[in-house]
Amino acid sequence: MATLGELHAREEARFVDTHPRSRELAERARASLFEGVPMHWMRKWPGGFPVFVRDAKGARFVDVDGIDYVDFCLGDTGAMTGHAPDPTLRAIREQAAKGITLMLPSEDALWVSQELTRRFGVSAWQFALTATDANRFSIRLARHLTGRPKVLVFNWCYHGTVDETFATLEDGVVGPRSGNLGPPVNPAETTRVVEFNDVDGLERELAHGDVAVVLTEPALTNVGMVFPEPGFQDALRALTRKHGALLAIDETHTICCGPGGYTAAHGLEPDIVTIGKPIAGGIPAAAYGFSEETAARLAGKIELEDVDVGGIGGTLAANALSLAVMRATLAEVLTEEAFARMIPIAERWTAGVDAGIARAGLPWHVSRLGCRAEYLFSPERPRNGAEAHAAGDVALERYMHLFALNRGILLTPFHNMALMSPATTEADVDRHTEVFRDAVLELSGYN
Ligand SMILES: Cc1ncc(COP(=O)(O)O)c(C=O)c1O
Repeated sequence: MATLGELHAREEARFVDTHPRSRELAERARASLFEGVPMHWMRKWPGGFPVFVRDAKGARFVDVDGIDYVDFCLGDTGAMTGHAPDPTLRAIREQAAKGITLMLPSEDALWVSQELTRRFGVSAWQFALTATDANRFSIRLARHLTGRPKVLVFNWCYHGTVDETFATLEDGVVGPRSGNLGPPVNPAETTRVVEFNDVDGLERELAHGDVAVVLTEPALTNVGMVFPEPGFQDALRALTRKHGALLAIDETHTICCGPGGYTAAHGLEPDIVTIGKPIAGGIPAAAYGFSEETAARLAGKIELEDVDVGGIGGTLAANALSLAVMRATLAEVLTEEAFARMIPIAERWTAGVDAGIARAGLPWHVSRLGCRAEYLFSPERPRNGAEAHAAGDVALERYMHLFALNRGILLTPFHNMALMSPATTEADVDRHTEVFRDAVLELSGYN
């Protein structure tokens, strides 16, 4: 039986052979792009160089070598709407002709904020261009409001490039997450870290009385999936209230649960909701909203003279284009009906992967949250970030991704995540099921 290294080498040779045009562009890119890519994460694609895209529509794209792919990465959720949805395109065309950015509000801001209130419950919204910024600004305002210095996050969380969140726990000690580039200070100074689902740890850390805000995804989606155990969300809410910390729920990925994300699907009561990525179909846009009570506490606490230099907002934030596009995308693309199609498609994907794992007899499992699904290289669902992180296997992951890529399937290059868009079809999923089955049968030596 071939080793994983041999299988990977075979797939890499196949990838290089079948992507001559992408290879040529990647070689040329080294002359003018740092390490050959326009954004550093793109180094992570398996195969030695990234596929260069010619065009994308719906759940598919075609690369510069003319190869057609089913896209389950969907821009790592930025294109959860499917690529270039028609209502989004129409709004881009119409608004771009009428002005892109003015530093003045447009009426769309009212519609979008009312719609976000209807979906997520919190009622005082601000806009940003990225989910990272929505989280950064929320943290700043939480500190300003409470007068407390620290943020509490869960181990192996991801909330964008927010300095305070790049902290992990090792043997109970907080330190910089591995690979964190140039941390401004040791995050132990800014951050408390607890394992997800650890109610006692949460109580212990909050009891210090110095936490301004707990920032979390309602279920972790960035280290494999980790679901809250029954009662954990209630305990989180009760403990943050008891100890005077705000609760910020980051719905950037968990919008996969439905139009109002996990918050609406499970009746959460956050003080702050943050969201970005797909809400404008991939046009940069993000939002953060405060509950009525939190907004009332904040009211009047920001000096008029300093509103533009206080550390929140940005020149292009809330621009007219992104608001018009958010309006069209929320009204016509990320609708209730769309989720009613996407979620069963994700169930089909999960069933296909489950069947492949069972047939190959591998000690893996697959999880699903709304229209997002993911397989992990461990037999049991992880209870927390540390367990999920320990189940990672970079070599295996890269092989699975490259095997799929060589057969016209794109998975998110970070862990084994797949996302369904309103345009994803049963046939797209069945193609993945076949390719996944072939990959795991080969790995387990059945082929
Ligand atoms: C939960 C969550 N929040 C925030 C972000 C940051 O998004 P962006 O990179 O668009 O700022 C991410 C990115 O993966 C995320 O997964």
